[in-house]
Amino acid sequence: MSKRDLLSITDLTKPEIENLFETAKVFKKDPFCKSGTLKSKSIALVFQKPSNRTRVSFEVGMVDLGGHAIYLGPDELKLGVRESIKDAAKVLSRYLDGLVARTFSHDDVTELAKFATVPVINGLSDLLHPCQGLSDLFTIEEKCGKGKVKISFVGDGNNVLHSLLLGSSILGKDIFIATPKGHEPDAGILKKAKKIASSNKSVIELTNDPAASVKDADVIYTDVWVSMGEEARKKKSFKKFKPFQVNKKLVSLAKKDVLIMHCLPAHRGEEITDEVMDSKNSICYDQAENRLHVQKAILLMLLGG
Ligand code: CP
Ligand code: NVA
Repeated sequence: MSKRDLLSITDLTKPEIENLFETAKVFKKDPFCKSGTLKSKSIALVFQKPSNRTRVSFEVGMVDLGGHAIYLGPDELKLGVRESIKDAAKVLSRYLDGLVARTFSHDDVTELAKFATVPVINGLSDLLHPCQGLSDLFTIEEKCGKGKVKISFVGDGNNVLHSLLLGSSILGKDIFIATPKGHEPDAGILKKAKKIASSNKSVIELTNDPAASVKDADVIYTDVWVSMGEEARKKKSFKKFKPFQVNKKLVSLAKKDVLIMHCLPAHRGEEITDEVMDSKNSICYDQAENRLHVQKAILLMLLGG
């Protein structure tokens, strides 16, 4: 059987995502129910950027399943610098059963997957963060059920939003996106999401008005204004982002029991205030925990045979 990669949430069908969530639910209840399933299997985490949640949850996930994970950080492999991505992919495939890659350019993770003969999982690129998107939607269904919800994303239209947008379209959730002008989601991703959404009766709306976007929202989601690798744009863009801060005033315009989500790491005091992060509406740590359960389900699906 040919190997299967997870570079985008759209690599999975709706029934596959639903199955993944069922498996994640089982792991959440009983973390060691499948211990030994990945016995003698090893993966490498090829990371060009720092990580807490993605790295730790994949490493712990592998141990829980009986396997092993090797962390190859930014200074180790030097993907595409010390040797070509093609050579690295071919060699790593001789040692390992899977790769999780965190790259700057999405083309790099695509190239890695092209030449690797083992499954490659995108652990965040400049374009997409599929593991995050899957775990976010798992968390939303865990808290709100499987029915219609209105998700309001407020902030920068980047990797995390892209995966949430594509995933929401597949699962039929409504997503309202408020970004400053010039920080809208990628046009190609939006087009793809709209096409998927039209066959799943899900709504996608874009605005530059955060107040309009959060009205009647069940979920308010935000991400940092400056992503890893974009630090140079920091000073320039902050003024435009100010009205998009998720603070008490903005949250008061949504439903009373609105859930607050953030992929983390958060830049407290920038895109979200302490008051909102630490409020009873915030589910950020549940969301972070679910990365572990969902990723174990992903590992089992791609490496479990
Ligand atoms: N949300 C997320 O991917 O966190 P890390 O960057 O810490 O892995
Ligand atoms: N958009 C952020 C997400 C971090 C998990 C970044 O790329 O840095």
